[in-house]
Amino acid sequence: MRKDIVTPTDRETRLLARRAGRTPVYVYSREALRAAVERVRAASVPGAGLYYSLKANPHPGVVQTLATLVDGFDVCSLAELETALNAGLAPRKVLFTGPAKSGEEAAAALAADVMVTVESPRQAGLFAEAAAELGVTGRGVIRLNTPYPGRTSGADPSQNQFGVAQEDLAEVVDILRASPLSVAGLQLFWGSQYADADVILAARKTMEEQARACVDRFGLQVEFVSIGGGIAMPWCDADPEVDWAGLAAAGLDAAAVDGADAEDRLPLVCEYGRSIVGSAGSLLTTVLDTKTIGDRRYVLVDAGINHVFIASRLIAGAGRGEPRVRMVGARPDAATSPAWVTGPLCSQLDVLAKDVLLPEVEVGDLLLFEGVGAYGPTFSPSGFLSRDKVREIVF
Ligand SMILES: Cc1ncc(COP(=O)(O)O)c(C=O)c1O
Repeated sequence: MRKDIVTPTDRETRLLARRAGRTPVYVYSREALRAAVERVRAASVPGAGLYYSLKANPHPGVVQTLATLVDGFDVCSLAELETALNAGLAPRKVLFTGPAKSGEEAAAALAADVMVTVESPRQAGLFAEAAAELGVTGRGVIRLNTPYPGRTSGADPSQNQFGVAQEDLAEVVDILRASPLSVAGLQLFWGSQYADADVILAARKTMEEQARACVDRFGLQVEFVSIGGGIAMPWCDADPEVDWAGLAAAGLDAAAVDGADAEDRLPLVCEYGRSIVGSAGSLLTTVLDTKTIGDRRYVLVDAGINHVFIASRLIAGAGRGEPRVRMVGARPDAATSPAWVTGPLCSQLDVLAKDVLLPEVEVGDLLLFEGVGAYGPTFSPSGFLSRDKVREIVF
């Protein structure tokens, strides 16, 4: 059992099912969110601000809980922007990211007075025009293009489409300086799902150095520099466990060294999604049928890949191991056997877990998928077969 996954007790789970009225339902724990924020802060750069990225889980109850615990939000759409503002966070603490904003999005973000990432000369021009047309100033955050490091030390980095290319930086700075927008900050994001403390620490150092070089080159007065997050979440037992202790120890060492020259440091922010919400959410589903075909045992449930796509397919499907699933109310000494847990969709792809060990189950029993609080409904093909959306509740 992984220490960092929080799972409701059987009694809590039964009551949550009754509260929801029907399954499938995601249940998110406020207490687990609080614990995750503490754990992530301790593993972050000492003194850095902590931003939560709504893309991992934009449920309003989750976002409201986190509004009191983090220092800012990263949003990627007008809907996420509204959720962030409705949660009560000050607009100046909200950053609208994304490599290609539309004119409508640029104007909406500036009208709402939130920060915007600027990711190319053309996008800089779009924001300059929108601000002039609206008669507002604005706070631009230049995203620098950075390759993503390999997952283990020494592995090859990969290229991506985000941010401003080095050769375009001067042009972007010039456009912003001639516009109503200030250069409020820099953003350097370097990827997701890293567990190895050495890789994470090396990436943070590289991001800080690149940010420093940019600040010095253009004489920028930035309010903050976001150097990404990258910390993984444990989707399944086969995933490497995050080196929380190594990261926290490195943070304590760095704090001791930095004390002397703290004045010279850039005001850093780290931004995280999955490591904050992943462990705080479970998916509760009801058994609708059971059958054996050939030598395979199937347990058919009311949740499908339209509700839990990433955990079930992108993770298990990529050969990384199966999601964690248990039967609610199982006797501790019950005999188990391998089963495929499949959903109600008319698609062969609708497999939630393969060959997971489950006791005998009956129609009406509840199964709980654990540690699926990130990239759940928001990353699932919910339109497929026009079925009902999954429920979500916070407890
Ligand atoms: C700019 C940015 N910030 C934050 C995140 C959240 O990342 P994670 O869920 O890995 O913490 C992402 C993920 O894609 C991102 O692209």
